[in-house]
Amino acid sequence: MLNVEQLRYGNDNFSYLIYGKRQALAIDAGAWEEILSILESNNLKVAVATNTHQHFDHTSGNDHLLQAIKAQFLDFADLVDNREIQIDGEKIFIYRTPGHTADSVCFHAGNVLITGDTLFNGTIGNCFTGDLKSFYLSIKRLMALPDETIICAGHDYVFDSLAFAKRLEPDNKYIDSFKNSYDSNHVVSTMADERRINPYLRFNEDPIIRLLQKRGLPLATEWERWKSLMSIE
Ligand SMILES: [Fe+2]
Repeated sequence: MLNVEQLRYGNDNFSYLIYGKRQALAIDAGAWEEILSILESNNLKVAVATNTHQHFDHTSGNDHLLQAIKAQFLDFADLVDNREIQIDGEKIFIYRTPGHTADSVCFHAGNVLITGDTLFNGTIGNCFTGDLKSFYLSIKRLMALPDETIICAGHDYVFDSLAFAKRLEPDNKYIDSFKNSYDSNHVVSTMADERRINPYLRFNEDPIIRLLQKRGLPLATEWERWKSLMSIE
């Protein structure tokens, strides 16, 4: 079993350190000082560093970390879809999930999914590429993962996300119960939570379909419904 640490930095960013007995993978190493102290206190000898995408708030810790220790760095070209990174013999799968950026990647370790700015707890990232179809397919791909998958996102956007979700679905009680369970020291959801609270995963649910109807937005297919949801501000 690999350990996964969520480490907060900046306003609302998260780094993740995945490690076993000897080896560690640092993802979006903005919290590089904490990462170094975990590496040291656990006597971890081999480190690999990488990013969920190239936005500066996610890459800002790379140089600090790589100057302090001899870590292998995996850049986007190294992150081949469906390949894996091995940490102490355990596999961490790489999923390329374009949409927020063309180089967005998710990492799947056991039942933990590190999602960067692709999928947040309660929302999804901005589609900066403008390529909505690719983003839709990326989200559909993540939705195929089991209910118990734990979503570890690149930012803590929970309260803003839930406020927006609640605006779309005022009667959705799961949004309130998820809000009440918020713990700033451990900001995660399960895929089951996301299916209940995240509007961008709920394009087949009656309340969302009724909302699109009311607004006169296209809703004939899943793709149309998703695109319509993305047009709501
Ligand atoms: Fe980003």
